[in-house]
Amino acid sequence: MAIAPNSAEARDIAYHIHGQTDLKAHEEKGPKIISKGDGVRVYDEEGNEFIEGLAGLWSVSLGFTEQRLVDAATKQLETLPYYHTFAHKVAPPVIDLAEKLVGIAPGGLTKAVFQNSGSEAVDTAIKFVWYYHNAIDKPEKKKIIARVNAYHGTGVASASLTGLARMHAAFDLPVTDRVLRTDCPHYYRFGEDGESEEDFATRCADNLEKLILDEGPDTVAAFIAEPIMGAGGVLVPAATYFDKVQAVLKKYDILFIADEVICGFARTGEMWGSQTFGLKPDLLTCAKALSSSYLPISAVLVSEKVYEAIRDKSGELGGFGHGYTYSGHPVPAAVALETLKIYEERDIVQQVKNVAPAMQDGLRAFADHPLVGEVRGVGLIGGVEVVADKATKAPFEAADKVGPTIQGLAEKNGLLIRAMGDSIGFCPPLIIDRATIGDMLGRFAKTLDDALAWAEGEKLI
Ligand SMILES: Cc1ncc(COP(=O)(O)O)c(C=O)c1O
Repeated sequence: MAIAPNSAEARDIAYHIHGQTDLKAHEEKGPKIISKGDGVRVYDEEGNEFIEGLAGLWSVSLGFTEQRLVDAATKQLETLPYYHTFAHKVAPPVIDLAEKLVGIAPGGLTKAVFQNSGSEAVDTAIKFVWYYHNAIDKPEKKKIIARVNAYHGTGVASASLTGLARMHAAFDLPVTDRVLRTDCPHYYRFGEDGESEEDFATRCADNLEKLILDEGPDTVAAFIAEPIMGAGGVLVPAATYFDKVQAVLKKYDILFIADEVICGFARTGEMWGSQTFGLKPDLLTCAKALSSSYLPISAVLVSEKVYEAIRDKSGELGGFGHGYTYSGHPVPAAVALETLKIYEERDIVQQVKNVAPAMQDGLRAFADHPLVGEVRGVGLIGGVEVVADKATKAPFEAADKVGPTIQGLAEKNGLLIRAMGDSIGFCPPLIIDRATIGDMLGRFAKTLDDALAWAEGEKLI
């Protein structure tokens, strides 16, 4: 479609740089302008309706028209539109939010610090880990272990922990030699022939231990993991993986950072992915559904042990040299507080438990489709991986762009989902009902059939 001069599309191309987009292709294709939301649906400029199968970016948990969040923001804007947390200052909603968040946090996490994004939360967690080890007089203990296919954001440090080549290419990342890389616990892709899922998990934990021993346990500070790896392709950890990994971490006194930026707030059918997978983190990062993404806010929750050491060191230094202008901004804090109240009142965990089987069973029914290699997921997050050969699990060539083509076909069928390579992610708003899940899956069924016809036409299978 030709882009009219001076149209919104033309002006977007002229003036705006997009994230996670092929910028060259964008100049030809132009933007898709989403101009309105309604519940779990959004509408483009032409009025076309889409089910938001990824809740924006895994994040709009309460859908696009929750009036209570609008009212909470408005009220706070009218009362005190800005304040900060430096030099002992704070606005009331920030105190309320910290208390509420700690109240629902996994056991042992007793303090909250606020930022604006998941990437900043991860950066903050990294800085806390380093500061902590200086505070306890272990200055050599600084390396952080992250996993292949991990996604922890795009800040300089958080992107360095991210384990996806496409996030590093041409940025000269990772930037620090304090980042170590260990296995991705995705059994379907990385399990060996004849190896059981449990044996695969043992191998991952053994490799982790070997890495720690090779580097020297006294130099390894922390391990960071998403309970379910989101942007890496919705990768569910192999059974027993986290139990075995946590035993290794404990043995060598290594802190565990759970990155719950996607999994937090009922996504996996419990309030935290940490509960779903039995994690006992020392630090936890969260964002996205913390405010249903209506305004930017993220948090790091820390254990008392970590907090106390940091507190004492800051006392010794006469200050804690960390914080953003918008750490504890009262408006997003008020929205987040209202979001948590809604989760509680509507029992969002139970809502997810009620509807998740409709999505998980429905997705698993696609396992027989000729294009589908694996279907995976928990709660209201799921992934469908397409392959060139079901029997051998052989992937398509990246250049064939099968995943992106499926994403485009889904869009034509009124469904917004995300292709990560050839894995298609589903992560709808948590308020979705069974009927809409059925509608979403129907649109995806048509999409897969369209994709099969296309792939056959292109002689890809
Ligand atoms: C697990 C995880 N950590 C961190 C981030 C980064 O969050 P943000 O995009 O808000 O910086 C993301 C974003 O998707 C994420 O999924």
